[in-house]
Amino acid sequence: MKSARSSLICCITLLFLASFAHAGDVAKGKALFNDPTLGGGTAGKSCGSCHPNGKGLQNVTGKTEFKFAGKVHKSLEDIINACIEKANKGKALDPKSEQMQDLIAYLKSLKP
Ligand code: HEC
Repeated sequence: MKSARSSLICCITLLFLASFAHAGDVAKGKALFNDPTLGGGTAGKSCGSCHPNGKGLQNVTGKTEFKFAGKVHKSLEDIINACIEKANKGKALDPKSEQMQDLIAYLKSLKP
């Protein structure tokens, strides 16, 4: 009985989360990728300045280790934020934010 109730609570929680989850919009992600003001960046560079049209990022889907400046990042959110902070000189995005989900959707769309 107890486990039936906890699975019910679990289902309701999942449904609740799913209704708020943002799927990520490729077109919006592409615009953010080419926006030098992303994250309030002060370097005057967009992601696309260093990765033109996502060059070199076609294989990020499913990858679990990203190296940047001698540091290993374990998720796409992490490496994107590392680039925003270190390369764009901006502020890290909330990993759950719509902007982050849009950027990830764009990067995943690069897969040939
Ligand atoms: C000043 C240049 C520069 C800018 C701007 C920049 N990056 Fe990077 N990025 C790099 C370098 C250097 C690496 C390290 C790996 C490499 O040599 O490609 C990297 C690595 C990455 C990786 C991991 C690639 C892999 O397969 O390991 C991703 C994903 C990435 N950047 C996304 C972004 C995004 C999204 C933005 C914009 C928020 C951005 N980058 C802005 C220079 C930059």
